[in-house]
Amino acid sequence: MDTPVPKNAEEEARALAAVEAHHAGMLKRLRALIAALTQAVKAHNTVAEHDAHEVLVEWCETELVPHALAEEGPLYSGAGAAPEGRLLVAGMLAEHKVIVSLVERLRTAQGVDAAVAAAGIGEVFALHLDKENGLLMPFIVESPGLSLAGSVAGLHELVGEAHVHAAPHGSVAPAPPVST
Ligand SMILES: [Fe+2]
Ligand SMILES: [Fe+2]
Repeated sequence: MDTPVPKNAEEEARALAAVEAHHAGMLKRLRALIAALTQAVKAHNTVAEHDAHEVLVEWCETELVPHALAEEGPLYSGAGAAPEGRLLVAGMLAEHKVIVSLVERLRTAQGVDAAVAAAGIGEVFALHLDKENGLLMPFIVESPGLSLAGSVAGLHELVGEAHVHAAPHGSVAPAPPVST
């Protein structure tokens, strides 16, 4: 991993900001959905609980789990192949497994059990994001053999739809649509 890869400091900083912004948006949405479920359970409102549970499970299946799986591609594999990043990535992968198993538990849980599973997802995800933002991504940015911009290029699960076409030069991201 000592071979330097061509990268541009501005593009690395932009990629870091894009993933951080996407993480912040995800956490905000997740917390709102968890709060809706928790309030419905506290109020013994079974109709509201059913709706909040359905929306939260769907969000986890369409946003949270795909986000984790997308990270396990170039983002985690590049850092995990570096000797200095191997243990960190192993720990991050273990947290993905915990998040996925909590989503499985949430899917069939009701009442207080559902609220407990949802709270668990919220806490583990928040802790996990802190490590990605503060440890994993800065490690990739600072490693001469790795590129954050290259790792996330074209992956809307990691940077959101708004940034998906803002790929760095020389990346494998799809070309932006031609405006007419
Ligand atoms: Fe992750
Ligand atoms: Fe993430």
